[in-house]
Amino acid sequence: MKIDILSLFPHMFDGFLTESIIKRAIDKKSVEITIHNFRDYSLDPHHKVDDYAFGGGDGMVLMPQPIFDCVEALKTEKSKVILLTPQGKTFSQEMAYTLTKEEHLIIICGHYEGFDERIRTLADIELSIGDFVLTGGELASMVITDAIVRLLDGVIKSGSHENDSFNNNLLDYPVYTKPVDFKGMRVPDVLLSGHHENIKNWRYQEQLKRTKERRPDLLEKR
Ligand code: ADE
Repeated sequence: MKIDILSLFPHMFDGFLTESIIKRAIDKKSVEITIHNFRDYSLDPHHKVDDYAFGGGDGMVLMPQPIFDCVEALKTEKSKVILLTPQGKTFSQEMAYTLTKEEHLIIICGHYEGFDERIRTLADIELSIGDFVLTGGELASMVITDAIVRLLDGVIKSGSHENDSFNNNLLDYPVYTKPVDFKGMRVPDVLLSGHHENIKNWRYQEQLKRTKERRPDLLEKR
């Protein structure tokens, strides 16, 4: 998969691209991620990318020209263009799975007070990562990219996302490691029993219990 991210702040991605699982996925060529500073596409002599809103109002608005030119330079018939905005559809695990099937994602990060409404016409989908407002789309693009890339073949051990929270609309079950007794808190006996069927049942019951307590809305979707 190829992911092109359009941002005015490319250095925000330095750690994201050079650490942990995302770095490994890039090294293994499971994904190719490129950050494009759309300021480089500005035709303004001072590389301006924003201006005041017509009709007045505080703050600056991203102009359409640099973003249009950047998207048009990158886009092919196989690209899916995602615009990040708090007004978009809320991103979910299900969408992460759906997006793994795409060959090429172009992700546009907004910034400042907003973007010119005509930029919306470039997007196949508008996504939000939740009902709160960030200073820009950069963190949202990293969240979405991370959630997609970990699902790509070979990025994490096969089968290890089968029990992820939200698969089948259930939260994940509790897990424990050594020591068996930590400050008087013991690992449940069933997990030490070696009885695979009992462990499987216990985990499923814990998933149901946890989801009922914390996210009853998910159970209604089952
Ligand atoms: N840009 C600013 N806030 C955002 C959000 N919640 N999701 C996606 N992009 C954003």
